[in-house]
Amino acid sequence: MGRRSVLIGTGSGLPARVVSNAELAQQVDTTDEWIVERTGIRQRYIAGEGETTATLAIIAARNAVAAAGIEPSSIDLIILATATPDQTFPASATIVQEALGACGGIAFDVAAVCSGFLYALGVADSMLRTGMARRALVIGAETFSRILDWEDRTTCVLFGDGAGAIVLEARDSDAPDAPGVLATRLHADGTHNQLLFVDGGPSTTGTVGKVRMKGKEVFRHAVTNLADVLREVLEETGITADQLDWVVPHQANKRILDGTAKKLGLAPEKVVITVDQHANTSAASVPLALDVAVRDGRIKPGQLVMLEAMGGGFTWGASLIRV
Ligand code: UT7
Repeated sequence: MGRRSVLIGTGSGLPARVVSNAELAQQVDTTDEWIVERTGIRQRYIAGEGETTATLAIIAARNAVAAAGIEPSSIDLIILATATPDQTFPASATIVQEALGACGGIAFDVAAVCSGFLYALGVADSMLRTGMARRALVIGAETFSRILDWEDRTTCVLFGDGAGAIVLEARDSDAPDAPGVLATRLHADGTHNQLLFVDGGPSTTGTVGKVRMKGKEVFRHAVTNLADVLREVLEETGITADQLDWVVPHQANKRILDGTAKKLGLAPEKVVITVDQHANTSAASVPLALDVAVRDGRIKPGQLVMLEAMGGGFTWGASLIRV
């Protein structure tokens, strides 16, 4: 009997404060027109006092657990993807674990920046299928606003804060069309680790550092890498692009989403887009977009949903789920 990781709940958590492009244009030399035209972003949520990666993750986690209709104490694996943990250590996943009252199981953070949620999902799926855990909470949560250089217009307009979470449950099944994670493919190429990075850290400067990015080069690699990994997952599962019901991509730039969809011949109306509302929330963006499309009724049980992301490292990956 095969075992699959089945998606049984989604949730999200956003800061209270919304910052429009127009508001940003009062602080840095930019315009609403430039941001909308080059990125598709119209607004982003920015964490205020008392709002942190862990507090947003806890809200997302509680919403996902409620949607799944399970007792939080039944969760025996928590993986939190983030590049902006509350503290260098302990893992922010342990803060979520305590808040949920799910202590005793496994809890750790994963660092793969914007691809973090895909990496966390891949690890959780492997652990559920090998029997190391039965119920997993997989979270992407970030407060990038805290590591942005608010004087660098080439980066500070692009990012936002937020958290998204899913609950996965291990279920035995041999039926080919049974729900569950069908395949996940992950990659990294460290030769590009200086195209998108933070110029600080505990072991180098002893400071947190700020985000630095060569946007144009990241953009170019993103479209190629994402199209390649999507093809890989489709080949592995024997599913064709036109059989997909939805694609939930990392929300970095609408032009990347359009470019990737075009390369694969995907219908643009099948691509879930939230970059206009959330901007780039790094590891949180895929589960946030997934939660939006589940809650507004677009994503329905039985459908085929492809998740994909690319980010610093470079890291990238894709995962196909039958919901
Ligand atoms: O999440 C992980 C991955 N991250 C990404 O995927 C981001 C990938 N990259 C991108 O999304 C795009 O490259 C950006 C949105 C970052 C930039 O768009 P672009 O079309 O590549 O613009 P550019 O960097 O070539 O800049 C064009 C012009 C420049 O002026 P000059 O040199 O042509 O005079 C910039 O100085 O736009 C200028 N510019 C701005 N102008 C107004 C850059 N940032 C801004 C700004 N407002 N915020």
